Amino acid sequence: MYKLIDGKVISKQIKDELKEKVAGLKAEGVEICLAVIQVGNDPASSVYVGNKKKACEYIGIGSLSYELPEETTEEELLALIEKLNSDDKVNGILVQLPLPKHIDEDKVIKTISPKKDVDGFHPMSVGALSIGQPGFVSCTPAGVIQLIKRSGIEIEGKECVVLGRSNIVGKPMSMLLLRENGTVTVCHSRTKNLKEVCRRADILVVAIGKPEMIDASYIKEGATVIDVGIHRDENNKLCGDVDFESAKEVAGAITPVPGGVGPMTIAMLMSNCVESININ
Ligand code: GUN
Repeated sequence: MYKLIDGKVISKQIKDELKEKVAGLKAEGVEICLAVIQVGNDPASSVYVGNKKKACEYIGIGSLSYELPEETTEEELLALIEKLNSDDKVNGILVQLPLPKHIDEDKVIKTISPKKDVDGFHPMSVGALSIGQPGFVSCTPAGVIQLIKRSGIEIEGKECVVLGRSNIVGKPMSMLLLRENGTVTVCHSRTKNLKEVCRRADILVVAIGKPEMIDASYIKEGATVIDVGIHRDENNKLCGDVDFESAKEVAGAITPVPGGVGPMTIAMLMSNCVESININ
């Protein structure tokens, strides 16, 4: 029988802990403020941004909202970021991605001060993580670590296999598992004998972006399976990179989609915002 790793419950736990912490800080006169920038009105981005603002409200973090038109120039966006970088009242800056094609995302990410990079996307943040120095950690992989730890699953000494090598999930995920003393293998589209490698895993983190690709045949009996993927299937139903119905027959613990990794990303963004007071 598998254990269901419930991201809704764990993310609520984290948000409630943060809420208490923020109330304590407020009593000492410390206020936290996140600036959220959206360029254009991509409907999915609007939902994400709305949820981030709601989470700020719940926890007691102030939020500044910048909804810029699609035709905003790169110069205008960079100028706003520079202004927020030097605003002492702003602790964190988040630019919702994707950006319109005429804006260079890498340039935007690099312009955000690493001291306010609550998304953890700046090369300085990524570099700090890889050499074990303090800095902001990308929210989704940080959320995966919390899901594993708060489910009472130990990482130290375990065979951890990460499926996917993206800059936002796969690479930081492998660094975090390594920091937790896991033995880490990163797989990708060119990996040979993928199934055999996955079947070695005590902890399998799947972030390959292929709907329901990973079934029971990739999973060792009793393994922990974390599904980072999110897709809509042919019936418009949400599904992950893991075929849940098949995988749950062999996994020891597994995350559902939705309600697994998804809710953790915003909780960890909030955690980074609170953490920012120690970095500023
Ligand atoms: N777009 C999709 N996910 C994210 C995220 O975590 N951060 C930002 N800034 N944009 C995103």
